[in-house]
Amino acid sequence: MDNLQEFISKLREDFMNGSLLEKDIQEDPFAQFKCWLNEAVEAKVPEPQAMNLATASPEGKPSARIVYLREFQNNDFWFYTNYGSRKGQQLSINQQACLTFFWPELERQVRIEGIVKKASSAESDAYFNARPYDSKVGAWASNQSHVLSSRAELEERVSELQKKYTPENITRPPHWGGYVLQAEYYEFWQGRKSRLHDRIAYAFDGKTWHISRLSP
Ligand SMILES: Cc1cc2nc3c(=O)[nH]c(=O)nc-3n(C[C@H](O)[C@H](O)[C@H](O)COP(=O)(O)O)c2cc1C
Repeated sequence: MDNLQEFISKLREDFMNGSLLEKDIQEDPFAQFKCWLNEAVEAKVPEPQAMNLATASPEGKPSARIVYLREFQNNDFWFYTNYGSRKGQQLSINQQACLTFFWPELERQVRIEGIVKKASSAESDAYFNARPYDSKVGAWASNQSHVLSSRAELEERVSELQKKYTPENITRPPHWGGYVLQAEYYEFWQGRKSRLHDRIAYAFDGKTWHISRLSP
């Protein structure tokens, strides 16, 4: 495209499809999340389970990346990764993190903040064991977020591991597993006309959830 800069600066989406009114929301934010996730699945939003995970270094330097939501239960959200990756290193020191979902077809965003803990070994084993063999080998092969000398280095490591492990004997590497974000804040965003969006927040005070409407 010749005028990419101009094209991007003039892109304007008006959100017309829905609303999020106090009379329609669930009292419990996890129930509200499940309702919206279900609607995203039913609307065939591509990759509805993809979420942006933001973490921060101990000095407060943020970083973000997409990971897949794999399980969700009682305000807990599971994802799986390499414990030695950049996110893993950050989470080992600073457990505060934020998840963001964007479901464009529904003009919706969900933000979830909380504390992240490692999943139990049993949970990580169960998820790892359910993965295809090639993904299991990949988890062993990738020293995620560390510098590689070349693509060939990674592929050679995969070939060696394929000789070492069969689909029957491959177990979870100790450096790979799950994390669970325990939500203490949710925000549901529904796009509305003329940027007058609906934003409903739920904050947990240790006992109950407090609901408020935020200015768009
Ligand atoms: C759609 C999509 C899904 C992804 N899912 C995961 C995932 O579930 N776990 C993971 O470790 N990385 C996943 N990634 C890769 C991460 O975005 C990221 O590159 C990787 O985890 C390293 O991040 P870090 O260096 O910040 O630790 C995914 C990327 C995309 C685009």
